[in-house]
Amino acid sequence: TAPFGQAACGPNCTYKDMVMCFPQLGAESDWRTADTASFKDEAAKDGFQLVFSDAQQKQENQISAVRACIQQGVSVIALPPVVEDGWDAVLTEAHNAGIPVIIVDRSVSADASLYVSHIGSDMKLEGQRAADEFNKKFPDGAKILELSGTTGSGAAVGRAEGFRSKLNANIEIIDSQTGNFTRAEAVPVMQAFLQKYKAGTDFQGIFIHNDDMGLGAIEALKAAGVKPGDLFIVSVDGTRGGFQAMIDGWFQADVECNPLLGPQVAEMSLKIMNGQAVEKNVLTNETVYYPDNAAELLPSRKY
Ligand code: AHR
Repeated sequence: TAPFGQAACGPNCTYKDMVMCFPQLGAESDWRTADTASFKDEAAKDGFQLVFSDAQQKQENQISAVRACIQQGVSVIALPPVVEDGWDAVLTEAHNAGIPVIIVDRSVSADASLYVSHIGSDMKLEGQRAADEFNKKFPDGAKILELSGTTGSGAAVGRAEGFRSKLNANIEIIDSQTGNFTRAEAVPVMQAFLQKYKAGTDFQGIFIHNDDMGLGAIEALKAAGVKPGDLFIVSVDGTRGGFQAMIDGWFQADVECNPLLGPQVAEMSLKIMNGQAVEKNVLTNETVYYPDNAAELLPSRKY
């Protein structure tokens, strides 16, 4: 029998045979915009058909989009899940229809037999890398805040877990609230923090789960009279906005999360269609960026 997902054209399928379903989770951040562009550009370059939709950060919209793709009989589904839980039923439907699913970017809690592979970042490692920065900065301890990503998302869960697993015991997270990975929602969350806690006195730093929320937080901090460097701020993504925030003195480190996943996902999809074996979990190789060479690197940033 053919390996799961092998298409009728296999083992000689080309990109011309491929219809990739990409039910994007939303357009909440610059990271996400770059991720979407990466898939659209790759489809145009390789000549495969991309069935794109934007779920506006709602899981029910993503599930409907996946179901429509199953009905349509696409070759492959590349699914960036907005949250981890609640995918079992629709993944089973795709599996029963013989349509291979690649989980992209964030993770799912569903049984791994329901999808072929996961391609994305090691979110836990990102959180650990952020914790390393706080440990280095505050060897004698500190009080900090956390501005977290979408509740229940693999990115927020992984970063929070990794961060706590590595953070020194003398550094206390005094409060943690979600800004849903958006700049707009981060502003009132930061304002509320500043009403409750005095910057520099009650807390010395903030761990922020993405750059867009970081930029929202900066807006609120500026309005409250906080100056760049008054607080130790570590963000995640490494977008151009994050680089500018390092240049301006607001972020002291930016943990990379690479959104340019289109080429890898396309290549793996074709392999699956041709019945070739693929790895179960492909993690992106990432780093941490610092203010000292942010100005030099900014012009070459692709997102
Ligand atoms: O899942 C990746 C995260 O989602 C990125 O850190 C964030 O910017 C995006 O919204």
